[in-house]
Amino acid sequence: MKSKSVSDAIKSRMSVRAFTKDPVERDIVMSILNLSARAPSGTNTQPWKVYALEGDILQDLCTKVCAAYDNIAINPDLALEYQSEYDYYPSKWFSPYIDRRRENGWGLYGLLGITKGDKEKMHAQHRKNFEAFGAPVCLFFTIDKELGRGSMLDYGMFLENIMIAARGEGLATCPQAAWNDYAKIILPLIGANKNEMLVCGMALGYADQHELVNTFHTPRVSADEFTTWLK
Ligand SMILES: Cc1cc2nc3c(=O)[nH]c(=O)nc-3n(C[C@H](O)[C@H](O)[C@H](O)COP(=O)(O)O)c2cc1C
Repeated sequence: MKSKSVSDAIKSRMSVRAFTKDPVERDIVMSILNLSARAPSGTNTQPWKVYALEGDILQDLCTKVCAAYDNIAINPDLALEYQSEYDYYPSKWFSPYIDRRRENGWGLYGLLGITKGDKEKMHAQHRKNFEAFGAPVCLFFTIDKELGRGSMLDYGMFLENIMIAARGEGLATCPQAAWNDYAKIILPLIGANKNEMLVCGMALGYADQHELVNTFHTPRVSADEFTTWLK
């Protein structure tokens, strides 16, 4: 269902991890991207660059990344070959972030009946990232490596706009940093130049309402807790 108001779109956005096979028209994607590019950016630098993949090339990319991911499970040393070009997460976790991360991860796995130590099921669930969760379109975002950290702030605004604008078209999304470790495979395949760094991917399509995974709703800390009023 299309979201009719901004608050509706914000509230109904969630990370969808199972999509229907229904195709998404290019015109709709382009209109979402044009709208999203209204995002602000420092001195209007607009640091975004988007690669929209569908069909055979998306399938090919998924096959290659899935193969690399499976190989790492067999030989963990291979993980060193596949690393994100930037730190999305801290190298050492700490409270309260680690607690929220655990709550999120185990909440999702718990819903799916995946218990601690069930490595095969965990592998299979995480692997779905590299099938873009079955979405017909996957967007890949890059940024020029020479830009400053502030440009990543701009990028986040652009990405959120895409996710909200998608709701206005009845579409669902899942932002995906999981792809970042496989930049080495992805960047040449999409034709990025050597100045480009992979920011993240984003699965885009129609949510499969019959899939249990899409009933996973995440909590938020209330504004009362994270806001300090000063007068
Ligand atoms: C930049 C970014 C990268 C993310 N990467 C992944 C990912 O690789 N795989 C995944 O399943 N979810 C990913 N997520 C989704 C988060 O887990 C999710 O946003 C968070 O748990 C809150 O849930 P919600 O999006 O459903 O509100 C990512 C979110 C963001 C913002």
